[in-house]
Amino acid sequence: MRVARSFSELRTLLPPSRTGRIWLVPTMGALHDGHGALIDRARSEGGFVAVSIFVNPLQFGPGEDLDRYPRTEEADLAFLERRGTDLVFLPSAREIVPPKRQVTVSSGAVGRLFCGASRPDHFDGVLTIVLKLFHLFSPEGAVFGEKDRQQLFLIQTMVRDFDLPVRVLGHPTVRDVDGLALSSRNRYLSPEERKQASVFPALLDHMARRWSDLAGRNPGERLALRSELARNLEEAGFRVDYVAIADRQTFSPVSGPEIPVQAFLLAAVFLGKTRLIDNRELSSSV
Ligand code: PAJ
Repeated sequence: MRVARSFSELRTLLPPSRTGRIWLVPTMGALHDGHGALIDRARSEGGFVAVSIFVNPLQFGPGEDLDRYPRTEEADLAFLERRGTDLVFLPSAREIVPPKRQVTVSSGAVGRLFCGASRPDHFDGVLTIVLKLFHLFSPEGAVFGEKDRQQLFLIQTMVRDFDLPVRVLGHPTVRDVDGLALSSRNRYLSPEERKQASVFPALLDHMARRWSDLAGRNPGERLALRSELARNLEEAGFRVDYVAIADRQTFSPVSGPEIPVQAFLLAAVFLGKTRLIDNRELSSSV
């Protein structure tokens, strides 16, 4: 496995004929099997598999967890070696975020909804770094997790709006045995909180089932499931950041009276100080 720590090292370690060969998996490290599944997916596309690890300061707001975000470089390198990665890129903050930087990608209206409402510059920071990585690697494609639905949607939108020659693939969420989506932030949870956390995905499953059971019924009844879910989450000890339903095609909030056939249920909650997000596909055609 090749390890590049600067742009110049990256240029010498990437395969010489760059077009059509590289598959990129961008990460912030503290790697787990969710990241591993994206790497396996990248490998199944048959190219040279590159993983970047960079805790991107541009996507953290003031008072968020940038300083305590887990940094586990040694374990990550061993994980990537075992998983069959061809190259890992560990850039320095100085090089990837130049001090005199002025230009930022704007994530637009959708970037200010849902997670973007409570994390104002978050998605601009994500898109700015992802665009830079696409430029540095010129990959044929890149794989992102469906766990971060809004992020995936915005990256696909950026690729479309800028005509970037990169195929973006989404990969299903990898979960622990009790249903909790794997996340680098799960390690902030105390053993007690970790036990309690499994109620979050269970309540989302419950709501998604009821949504399809109510297919064809009046929209108000179905949209009421959203406040019921928020209430159930609060009663189970979570602090709800948001519970929302988004149109699958446009990611605009669904508030009736028209309900699209395909939508996403999106939710973010705090358990103690830890923020957890998850989502479900909602279908009306069952
Ligand atoms: P990070 O949180 O490290 O996630 C890296 C990639 O792994 C993202 O595409 C994310 O959606 C995916 N992922 C995380 N948990 C997953 C799970 N349980 N199952 C499947 N995929 C999962 O997302 C970021 O980093 C950053 O915003 C980044 C895109 C690297 C830009 O800085």
